[in-house]
Amino acid sequence: MYSPGLEGVVVKETRICHIDVENSKIYYRGYDLEELAARSTFEEVAFLLWRGRLPGRSELEELKSELRRGRRPPKHVEYLVRAAPPSAEPIDVLRTAVSAMAWGEDLSDKSPEAELRRGLKIAAAMPYVVAAFDRARRGLEPLDPAEAESHAEYYLWALRGERPSGREARAMDVMLIIYAEHSMNNSAFTAVAVASTLADMYAAVTAAIASLKGPLHGGANVDAARMIEEIGDARRVESWVDEQLAKGRRIPGFGHRIYKKGPDPRLKVLRELAKELAAERGDFRWVEIAERLEEYATAKLAAKGVYANTDLYAAVIFRYLGLPVDVNLPTFAVSRVVGWIAHVLEYRQANRLIRPTERYVGPVGLKYIPLEERG
Ligand code: ACO
Repeated sequence: MYSPGLEGVVVKETRICHIDVENSKIYYRGYDLEELAARSTFEEVAFLLWRGRLPGRSELEELKSELRRGRRPPKHVEYLVRAAPPSAEPIDVLRTAVSAMAWGEDLSDKSPEAELRRGLKIAAAMPYVVAAFDRARRGLEPLDPAEAESHAEYYLWALRGERPSGREARAMDVMLIIYAEHSMNNSAFTAVAVASTLADMYAAVTAAIASLKGPLHGGANVDAARMIEEIGDARRVESWVDEQLAKGRRIPGFGHRIYKKGPDPRLKVLRELAKELAAERGDFRWVEIAERLEEYATAKLAAKGVYANTDLYAAVIFRYLGLPVDVNLPTFAVSRVVGWIAHVLEYRQANRLIRPTERYVGPVGLKYIPLEERG
């Protein structure tokens, strides 16, 4: 069976995430994502995705203190992050930092507990790593705001150097919940493919970050932010879109392999969140551009099964939260790492080496001509 892009190929059976395209619903472990976004926290969702059930009070506290304990990566990783040139892309620094977290650790134990412990260490350290690099390139010392009450608050605080408002911290929390998991996307598949060789969690997450970087996947949230900045005014949306399409270019933040009959179910939550942040700041410019884009580009592209995806509004939300544009992408990783870990653990329960095949369409039996006779 040949399926370009592995479209429609089932890689594993799962209990992690169900996407009900018909009814425009996403479920994490059976729970409606909209409800999780409205009522739960990123830490609760991490526990849910990893363990398959919601945590009790003391279990949640335990997870939160484990995350707190793991905020600072090993010293050599801190040095590595600080040694990165300011011109480095934050996603590349994060990828290298996660890879280096493996240095010096005994990786022989591949039990689910050991791999989850590694996953937790990675997830805990990611906010500090991203923020430390962003601050270092601005000539600032890293911050480790120990009083932060949540992963989301810690991350924003460490990045911006001041405590975010409760509203801002909650907006980041919702973003981390929304981005945490989305079935067998390219980066989750990459993590699983690497883990299927019995390489360790650091290797699997490093590879997943590499996958996320691409503009057809997570990189679109940076491109979408640049697009919105370039457009600059909702009145310019139509001419900008027309121009891009006339040049045969794709519009970032639009299109999805799964959502071909309607928009991404997560859009509703993100659109509302973007509007709330705009109202709080009294600055509607960016959300207006996104809404106009959604309307106009959808009218142009829906016939091809192309609708807005999460990255369109994620770009707006991150802008209102004061993130530098290129930090959008590692922020996606700060959240999605939770899903990658869940998939690695699930796949390993019935591990089978991933090794697809290909159909050879080239020639055979060619006669070797010695170099001196080839001219
Ligand atoms: N803008 C304009 N046209 C588009 C777009 C877009 N964003 N996306 C798809 N199309 C067009 C294609 O050009 C193609 O047109 P054609 O039939 O005339 O050649 C048609 O729609 C079908 O596109 P495919 O490439 O077959 O769709 P596929 O399922 O492979 O692609 C993808 C999905 C890669 C996400 C694509 O829509 C895209 O490149 N989008 C822009 C980048 C983006 O936003 N990525 C984020 C995805 S979500 C995530 O990872 C968080």
